[in-house]
Amino acid sequence: MSQAEDNAGTRRDFLYYATAGAGVVTAGAAAWPLVHQMNPSADVQALSTIFVDIGGVEVGSQLTVNFLGKPVFIRRRTQEEIDEARAVAVSDLSIDRQSRNPNRPGSDASDENRATDEAGEWLIMSGVCTHLGCVPLGDGAGDFNGWFCPCHGSHYDTSGRIRRGPAPENLHIPVVSFVDETTIKLG
Ligand code: FES
Repeated sequence: MSQAEDNAGTRRDFLYYATAGAGVVTAGAAAWPLVHQMNPSADVQALSTIFVDIGGVEVGSQLTVNFLGKPVFIRRRTQEEIDEARAVAVSDLSIDRQSRNPNRPGSDASDENRATDEAGEWLIMSGVCTHLGCVPLGDGAGDFNGWFCPCHGSHYDTSGRIRRGPAPENLHIPVVSFVDETTIKLG
């Protein structure tokens, strides 16, 4: 094995910890470039597994981290957001009724199938609009109080489900799990 290949292997094995305290942001598109600059090199961005400390994320705020070169939203939802998401019947979802959650393959888009934890406090999903890939704005944006993609007007609800606009699918959920109460593993 060449020295270069050896180094690549070492980099792949390295686990990157994103710290919530430094990276908490409240809006998607506007804040993303800032967080992006704080992230490590392209080598580290390509890591297929990262651990994220979510201990500093306040209720009603969102941490955006870079995973595989793309933003992932980690939202700690308010009870109001959870209730709003859970009050929606799957039959009311006219654009996409699938959870888009590889952690629960083949399941419907009820909020229980999209949230990371049973109580629904944590919603962890891709920050990439399923229309043409813009980063939606968060913090209760859009007509459904969730996320809004200003590029062509896609409205996502508090569960990240597409409710109006040209985007064809709900915001995708990454492979994610809790390692402990304040740490999640992406990938
Ligand atoms: S990229 Fe989001 S609406 Fe077109």
